[in-house]
Amino acid sequence: VPGNEGGVQPKIFIGRLIHSKSLKDLEIIPRAAIGVTTNGTIAFVDSEPATASQLQTRYAKGFAHAQVTTLTKSQFLFPGLIDTHLHAPQWPNLALGMEGTLREWCENYTDPMEASYSSTSKARRVYADVTKTTLALGSTTVAYNSSIHAEATNILADCALKAGQRAIVGKMCITAGSTHGNWEESAEVSLADSEKSVKYIRSIDPEGRLVHPCVQPRGGPYCPPELMRGLGEQCEKYRTYVQAHMCETQSDTDRTLELHPNYTCYSDMYLASLLLTPRTILAHCIYLQPRDLDNLSRSRAGVAHNPNSNTCLRDGDCRVRDLLDRGIKVGLGTDCSAGYMPSIHDAMRSASNVSRNLAVREGEGRYVLGFSEVVWLGTMGGAEVVGMEDLVGTFETGKRFDALVVDVEGVISADAGLWEDGEGDGEAMVKKWVFLGDKTSIKKVYVDGKLVAGQDAGV
Ligand code: GUN
Ligand code: FE
Repeated sequence: VPGNEGGVQPKIFIGRLIHSKSLKDLEIIPRAAIGVTTNGTIAFVDSEPATASQLQTRYAKGFAHAQVTTLTKSQFLFPGLIDTHLHAPQWPNLALGMEGTLREWCENYTDPMEASYSSTSKARRVYADVTKTTLALGSTTVAYNSSIHAEATNILADCALKAGQRAIVGKMCITAGSTHGNWEESAEVSLADSEKSVKYIRSIDPEGRLVHPCVQPRGGPYCPPELMRGLGEQCEKYRTYVQAHMCETQSDTDRTLELHPNYTCYSDMYLASLLLTPRTILAHCIYLQPRDLDNLSRSRAGVAHNPNSNTCLRDGDCRVRDLLDRGIKVGLGTDCSAGYMPSIHDAMRSASNVSRNLAVREGEGRYVLGFSEVVWLGTMGGAEVVGMEDLVGTFETGKRFDALVVDVEGVISADAGLWEDGEGDGEAMVKKWVFLGDKTSIKKVYVDGKLVAGQDAGV
């Protein structure tokens, strides 16, 4: 059926393909063909140039009647972007509140905004916008933080599922340390509501096709030992993800160790609470002790690096190179609204800039993140952090087709000649897109082989 984008017809894409296969290895295939089955799985990635009819013959089994999309010379396929850390309820505060430190920002902006999600109508309105907007910006997977409200959290999961976005969602748990007591709850309610949300999220997507539950202790200062332990047991019982903050500022770390006096390092507390797992996502990880590095490395927990947010709140610098050198999983997060930009495309530039500033300050060039590395962090690194490295992040047979069709025609003048002759200069095109492109260059966004957003998506 021509024009059918509902995922019932197999698809073949022919054109330039660009992805980071490893930290150092940006692969550019000038004329690739990718076959996607009706259920959204990549059936083949062929780097031999071929016409549509040659491919339909070559892959006759299942693809003889495939819908063929041939990219233009100024376009390329790029893996869907992965946002490993975004606070959905803070969405209306984007670009506001940069005056203060983390604590002041919480008091004046974040805590009152999050408290307002006792209103489910507000949750419906904002969360429909968050999921649609981030998808259009290319985030095919997002690890969402929510507020303390179970109902609003469930609405967030509904919105992601309805929009066709891969997502990790859980109820935020806070029973201490917030800037106003009214924005906290009791440990009993916190645990019961967290469990309610876990069960609800499992019920709306029982096979875990797109939406996955997590437990969500906001961070050390906000969850006393019994609550941490309760959430750890919930994580173990339901095999959920974990999302939390760690070592964002020195005072955040100090306050954690005050509330958890049995420990001398932040991650020991998560470890003892059963919360340090291969499906744990820890935002920031700036003020780490050597033991924290050992714990991250041993547990296979992942780090969400949020360069824009860390700059806005003047938190400090995540030493991404030190994490990568230890084999610790790292991805990029927007951390909206502490970060003002809800785009991982922009986070790649931000990560590059922050790494260069760190290199200057330390007088050590090794802190600079190279181009293939920032692409890796925004795609495959993120996939590792969200435990989906076998599913998404690169184009490989057997993975799901989560992809962007990017067009640089509106980004750089055709007169630059980058895509005119023969195969074009794919490396220059992708570099110019990362540093100069905006959302209008993201023409199509696919999740699970299904067209869900983009300038040319008509959705
Ligand atoms: N630490 C605790 N809560 C938050 C939050 O919402 N954003 C950021 N950046 N840090 C936090
Ligand atoms: Fe955060």
